[in-house]
Amino acid sequence: MKKRIVIFSGAGLSAESGVPTFRESDGLWETHRIEDVASPEGWAKDAALVLDFYAKRFQKMKTCLPNPAHEAIAELSKHHNVVCITQNIDDLLERAGVKNVWHLHGRIDWKKCEFHEDIPAYRNDLFCCSYKDTISNPITLEDKCPQCGARVRPDVVWFGEAVNMQHDYLEDLVETTDVFIGVGTSAKVYPAAGLLNVFEQAPEKYFIDPKPAREVLAGFKVFDKKASEAMPTLVKSLIGS
Ligand code: APR
Repeated sequence: MKKRIVIFSGAGLSAESGVPTFRESDGLWETHRIEDVASPEGWAKDAALVLDFYAKRFQKMKTCLPNPAHEAIAELSKHHNVVCITQNIDDLLERAGVKNVWHLHGRIDWKKCEFHEDIPAYRNDLFCCSYKDTISNPITLEDKCPQCGARVRPDVVWFGEAVNMQHDYLEDLVETTDVFIGVGTSAKVYPAAGLLNVFEQAPEKYFIDPKPAREVLAGFKVFDKKASEAMPTLVKSLIGS
């Protein structure tokens, strides 16, 4: 019988594809200040710096390929009802063939108006519009919103911005989930990290990370291994069961 399996991922899932993580010794937040490149204040102060940061990450992502962990998840979704909830802004799950992916923090290959309506109202002092699109080249300062003429920004969630948690959908998922798998996240950034609690009652819970945050993993079977090693093994056993 098909099971409902929720997979909650962080940067560690894509690390072996060459996408840098954030909080490890060589992570992105070691070399960049969050407030400069990933906050509304940074955007207001120096939009060129922000766009340069995302342009480099966009170009990098285009050269990366799904790794065996992404591929194992795609295989699992052929056998079970898999929902991926990811903090990652890359498209590696989709490129591996996974259909049902919820990007909590947006996507590096999407853009939106800087006054988009999904930005909290207190920041939309001028106006708001609904412009969003995909990109095939990095966003530049010359790009203007075709609806209102404002600047265009990455469609990612910055620090201090709201995450679209889709509470009704989440409630439904929690009630129907048979297996919950966390992979490659330091579980330090909320509200996303709170999902480990939200799915507390899932009948089976697994977590894959070479340095797992054990203090938030009560009731999880933990594999302290790399995603590309542990995910294919776990998927094999779930397909077999
Ligand atoms: N396989 C599995 N896990 C790995 C691997 C790997 N090969 N390599 C590293 N990891 C683990 C690390 O041990 C760490 O626990 O991935 C995790 C990466 O943690 P972070 O860098 O904090 O990334 P993440 O948890 O996704 O960060 C959450 O913070 O700034 C942001 O918005 C950004 O979405 C991101 C959020």
